[in-house]
Order: sequence, then structure tokens, then C-alpha cells
Amino acid sequence: MGLNKGKTLIVASVLAFAAAATGYADPNAEAKLVINGEIEIATVAPPPKALEGIFDHAYSGWAFRTPETQSMQADDFDNSGMLFADKGIDLWNTVDGTEGKSCASCHENIESMAGVRASVPKMNKAGDDLWSLENFVNDCRTTRMGAEEWKWTSDSMKFLTAAISLQSRGMPQTQAFDGPAQSWYDKGKEIYYTRYGQLELSCANCHEESMGKYIRADHLSQGQINGFPAYRTGDATIISAHQRFVGCIRDTRAEPFKAGSAEFRALELYVTARGATLPIEGVSVRQ
Ligand code: HEC
Ligand code: HEC
Repeated sequence: MGLNKGKTLIVASVLAFAAAATGYADPNAEAKLVINGEIEIATVAPPPKALEGIFDHAYSGWAFRTPETQSMQADDFDNSGMLFADKGIDLWNTVDGTEGKSCASCHENIESMAGVRASVPKMNKAGDDLWSLENFVNDCRTTRMGAEEWKWTSDSMKFLTAAISLQSRGMPQTQAFDGPAQSWYDKGKEIYYTRYGQLELSCANCHEESMGKYIRADHLSQGQINGFPAYRTGDATIISAHQRFVGCIRDTRAEPFKAGSAEFRALELYVTARGATLPIEGVSVRQ
């Protein structure tokens, strides 16, 4: 009885997935992302170590989007994400907390953050935890400014991390996946290949085995995060990588981990490794 029920569920879910997936198209690797006519951003790269034997290339999610969405990212005046990054720069200069300080009081211009987005997630100074950019921001707020922690998915956190990310636009990624980060990488990889939810689908089922296929109107990408935080036209605001993970897991009808959880920080590191040869896109535009 139990067995039969399980079997029916698997068959039903595979059918639902197959019915939803209609057609295949290669990522648009010929289109070139050149921002404002001058900043060339590679959207195809040789496979990093984590993709060897899986894909011949790492592709940015940009290569899978419609020409309209692609062109929005090619001009900062058309990229609505820039309006939110501007709000992030205002926050950078805003005094908050008992110490009467702003980020700028210690770090000066936000340009001083160049390269930081390309280095996270990484181990913290104490070496006992893997930190995303959000953790570094909250650490400065609580221990150095006497200010309250921001929620992971709050507008303030997303706008400021978008502004910080923009300072690394076009830069190569520098994260470490071995040494003290190795156990986080392993945990993230395990999550990536675990089937979740009623649909029993893993990240890999969609972003590895079905890359290039369509789920309804969505052209399935490799699920890279080098463009995050991203401006999502459907939400008309910035979304963080962890929010995207939540959405994807919810689509399998599972209860997702929480944004900022150790599970999602481990997953963020592993997904980063799968796209480590792609540059940071700053504030990307996605549908
Ligand atoms: C049922 C299929 C499905 C599953 C399972 C799934 N995703 Fe997705 N994911 C999508 C679709 C559809 C999109 C939007 C189109 C695209 O970019 O692939 C997407 C987008 C993404 C993006 C945004 C990529 C970009 O450049 O904008 C990331 C990152 C991502 N997924 C990561 C994950 C991770 C990590 C998991 C596992 C926890 C996962 N996904 C599981 C279907 C899925
Ligand atoms: C009182 C001074 C001070 C203030 C105010 C401050 N920071 Fe920091 N911040 C530091 C110091 C010191 C470090 C650690 C540098 C190191 O470890 O080498 C740091 C580290 C960081 C890092 C990690 C950089 C890296 O290379 O890994 C980020 C990101 C950061 N701060 C962002 C912010 C933001 C955003 C704000 C405002 C919300 C802020 N900081 C406010 C002093 C400050």
C-alpha cells in the first residue's frame, strides 16, 4: 500500500514535470553583454572545477533570457536595478546606531568595496562560520555601529548589498572552496542533489539535467548566482540569491530553508563554485 502510493506519486510528478517542460533551445551564446557600450561582461566561460564532466561551459542566466530582458541589463538607464542600488548608496552614507556612524565613516567611498562581492561567501575572521555579504553588513552594524541587525530579505539589506555588488561588476570571482570552507561546500553539494517536495525534484533535476528546456515560459538556465542580488522584472525589485532559492524550492512544493540559514549559505557557496569562472554582473536583470 505505502509502496504503491509512493510509486504513484513519483509517476505523477515526473509526468507533471515532463508536461510542463516543452521544447529545448540553446542558451544564446552569440549575444554579447556590453554595458553602456563599454563594459564587456563574459556570459559564457570555461567550466570551473565543480562543473567538470557535467557541462562544457558555464553560462550566465543572462544567456537564457529574452532579448528585451537582455538589453535592459546592457544600459544602466534601462536597468531598474540601478535605482535600487542608488538607494543603497544613500544607506551607505546614512548615520545609524548608538555610535553615530555610517558605513562611510569607516570605509569612505563605496568604491572601497570593489572586489568584496567577488570574495563572498567566505569564512569569517574567527574562522568558525561561513559568511555571506549580508552577514558582514550586519556584523558591522551590530558590533561597530551599535545599530540593529537588518533582516536578510529587508529592502535596506537588499539595496545596500546590490550597491556593494555593483562595485565588483565585471570582476573575476575569488572565493575559496577548500580548506576551512570544504565542509560547507560538501554540505551545499549534498543539498543541490537532494530531491525535495511533493515533486521530488533536486536543483540538479532542473538546472543540470533540464538546462535549455522550457518550463512553461521559463527557459531553464544553469541556476547561476553571479548576477545576484538581481533586479527581477516580475517582482519589480531586488531579490537576493537566498530568496531565489526559496522560490525554487517552493516550486517543488517543499517547505524551504530560511534565507540566511546555514543550509542556504552552504548552498550559496556550492552554487558559486559551479559558476566560479563567470564574472560578477553587479545588478543583473532577470524575468
Ligand atoms: C522545478 C524546476 C526547478 C528546481 C527544482 C529548481 N529551480 Fe531554480 N529555477 C527554475 C526556473 C524555471 C528558473 C527561472 C529560469 C532560469 O533562470 O533558469 C530558476 C532560476 C534559478 C536561479 C536564477 C538564475 C539567474 O541567473 O537568474 C537560481 C540561482 C536557481 N534557480 C537556483 C536553484 C537552486 C539552488 C535550486 C535547488 C535548491 C533550484 N534552483 C531548483 C526552476 C527550478
Ligand atoms: C566603525 C567602523 C566601521 C563601520 C561604521 C562599518 N564598518 Fe564595515 N568593517 C570595518 C572593519 C574594521 C572591517 C574589517 C576589516 C578586516 O577584517 O580587515 C569591516 C569589514 C566590512 C566588510 C567585509 C569586507 C571584506 O573585505 O571582507 C564589509 C562588507 C563591510 N565592512 C561593510 C560595511 C557596511 C555595509 C557598513 C555600514 C552598514 C559598515 N561596514 C560599517 C569597520 C567598519
